[in-house]
Amino acid sequence: MIYFDNGSTSFPKAPGVGEAMANLLETAGFNINRGGYEGAYEVADMVLDTRELLCKLFDWEDPKNVAFTGNVTQSLNYLIKGFLRPGDHVVVSSMEHNAVMRPLNQLAEEGIAFDAAQADPQGRLDPARVEALIRPETRLVVMTHASNICGTILPIEAVGRICRARGIRFVIDAAQTAGILPLSMQTLGADAIAFTGHKGLLGPQGIGGLVIRDDFAQEVRPLISGGTGSVSDTELMPAFLPDRFESGTLNLPGIAGLNTALRYLLDTGLEAIYKKEMSLCSRFLAGARQLKNVRIAGIDGLEGRVATVSLDFTHAGLDNAAVSFQLDSDYGIMTRCGMHCAPRAHKTLHTFPQGTVRFAFGHRNTEQEVDTCLEALSTICRG
Ligand SMILES: Cc1ncc(COP(=O)(O)O)c(C=O)c1O
Repeated sequence: MIYFDNGSTSFPKAPGVGEAMANLLETAGFNINRGGYEGAYEVADMVLDTRELLCKLFDWEDPKNVAFTGNVTQSLNYLIKGFLRPGDHVVVSSMEHNAVMRPLNQLAEEGIAFDAAQADPQGRLDPARVEALIRPETRLVVMTHASNICGTILPIEAVGRICRARGIRFVIDAAQTAGILPLSMQTLGADAIAFTGHKGLLGPQGIGGLVIRDDFAQEVRPLISGGTGSVSDTELMPAFLPDRFESGTLNLPGIAGLNTALRYLLDTGLEAIYKKEMSLCSRFLAGARQLKNVRIAGIDGLEGRVATVSLDFTHAGLDNAAVSFQLDSDYGIMTRCGMHCAPRAHKTLHTFPQGTVRFAFGHRNTEQEVDTCLEALSTICRG
């Protein structure tokens, strides 16, 4: 079995993640903020510790600014729907995932407009295109850090500077880069970073979150309201963080798993992980360039990307879904084909409607696996 679907979710998870989750459930499956006993305080300490580890990762000082959600989709919904009001305008890139585009299209029915800054056919975005779309009503820019289809990195530093200069809020979708590229709340000029625990963070599914600045948090209405275990003498939602965004019982086993994964990531070092993934990506790209009539979607070199590669086999007379199916059935190689929940990005890359086959490498993949896959692809393309 060869797993190249790390863009969807990472596998294997960091060592010890499953054990940490099972251990919490079996030895300390208590709730936090609700029970006045020692075991519950210990779980609360673990949750606080996880917030602190996330602060290390996202370069932020105060753990209260980290709120847990179920995944980055929920985080983005919280931020987008909680902040925008009828009459507002939003700018995004043409490389966004449906986690951004579907909430915005829903809001369009309520009089909230958006424009997408067009990236080039490699997925690269000129920040001036974002600036050109800003209007007096523009209150928010939301942007993915890297494309989930082709790995192209978007210019979030420059976009952050534009937003700061204009007093526009800036939210980063870090689904494809958290745990792989450095992300600093201090230097990026971001008002919030939305993350998911199960991709580059190497944690379990069902846990994600957001890091948010205090002043922005006060402008974001909580989308979900309910019990927080705090200020229980009032029926009104607490204004303070993280409770403002954490109604209902948290995914505590998920947080325990994420805690273990974050320790592994911080011990291993993001740079080492990125280097390993990029060396596999480089090997794969070199082989993919030799495949006749197979198009590499996005950047075909190593500059300005993460280790996610999309190939379009239709120019070689093959169907992308059939190639992905054959890789799995004949060679045990797992990939993802289709639209990858980002139709506008496929249009940008000129791979709509045929989609692509995506190969997303993780640092636990090996050169041998890449070579096996390239051999399989050359056989499929010849056949
Ligand atoms: C760029 C991007 N944003 C958002 C998501 C949604 O992630 P999740 O399903 O964890 O909410 C993904 C992953 O599918 C993604 O690649």
